[in-house]
Amino acid sequence: MTAAASRPLGATAAATPPDSGALPVIELIDVHKTYRVGTELILALRGVTLTIRENEYVAIMGASGSGKSTMLNILGCLDVPSRGTYRLGGADVSRVSQSKLASVRSRKIGFVFQSFELLPRTTALKNVELPLVYSHARKRRQRAIDALTRVGLLERALHHPNQLSGGQKQRVAIARALAQEPDIILADEPTGNLDSKTGEEIMSIFDQLHREGQTIIIVTHEDDIARHCRRTIRLKDGVVEEDRSKGL
Ligand SMILES: Nc1ncnc2c1ncn2[C@@H]1O[C@H](COP(=O)(O)OP(=O)(O)OP(=O)(O)O)[C@@H](O)[C@H]1O
Ligand SMILES: [Mg+2]
Repeated sequence: MTAAASRPLGATAAATPPDSGALPVIELIDVHKTYRVGTELILALRGVTLTIRENEYVAIMGASGSGKSTMLNILGCLDVPSRGTYRLGGADVSRVSQSKLASVRSRKIGFVFQSFELLPRTTALKNVELPLVYSHARKRRQRAIDALTRVGLLERALHHPNQLSGGQKQRVAIARALAQEPDIILADEPTGNLDSKTGEEIMSIFDQLHREGQTIIIVTHEDDIARHCRRTIRLKDGVVEEDRSKGL
């Protein structure tokens, strides 16, 4: 469990710069991903090496087809590299079985998607609670209530997704990720379906979680979204074209 998980939204801790000696959470070493479609080989990642440390706040950018989702799938243990090494929290997860990968994923990764991916016929509270059932977590109801409180949505706990605005749905999805007390939050275009004002509200939640110590990685096409992050990794044709950190 991270320090952030036990702290209410609003309590702040100093943000950690990338070179502060914070522990590496993610280490990619010469990671390749090749897809085979018929007789054709598609080189989606062609040798990516990078380290992301605790409490980093990272944007992954790049043109369509540059390998962003492929990289996020590997970081999120939804897929494994074809070649190279991925260490998550110091443990090599490059060659583990699908079931081991699923177990690592449910313990360490919180996902937030562009299209929210909420169950429609279930309350916000149940949506947040359900993944905790699969990971056999204890105190599930209380953790779900705490997570909804952190995103300011407790008053909508018994609403169904179709009774919520887009921004509120995404807040439920963030609460669902937080309830897992994940080592990393991975978000693929989390503001892609929202207007710019609502997108800013969602980014202010990520900003707050970052201040509380959470490690966050966001795939985005938008400079306005990336601007919130402390580091931008730009992919081009499956390699890192640029990797830039902001001074604090
Ligand atoms: N499952 C797959 N099978 C075959 N090829 C794939 C698969 N997934 C991705 N690719 C190919 O790998 C390359 C990288 O795709 P990826 O989805 O990672 O790009 P992206 O940067 O996320 O693009 P976008 O911004 O459009 O989401 C592309 O050429 C894509 O066509
Ligand atoms: Mg993509």
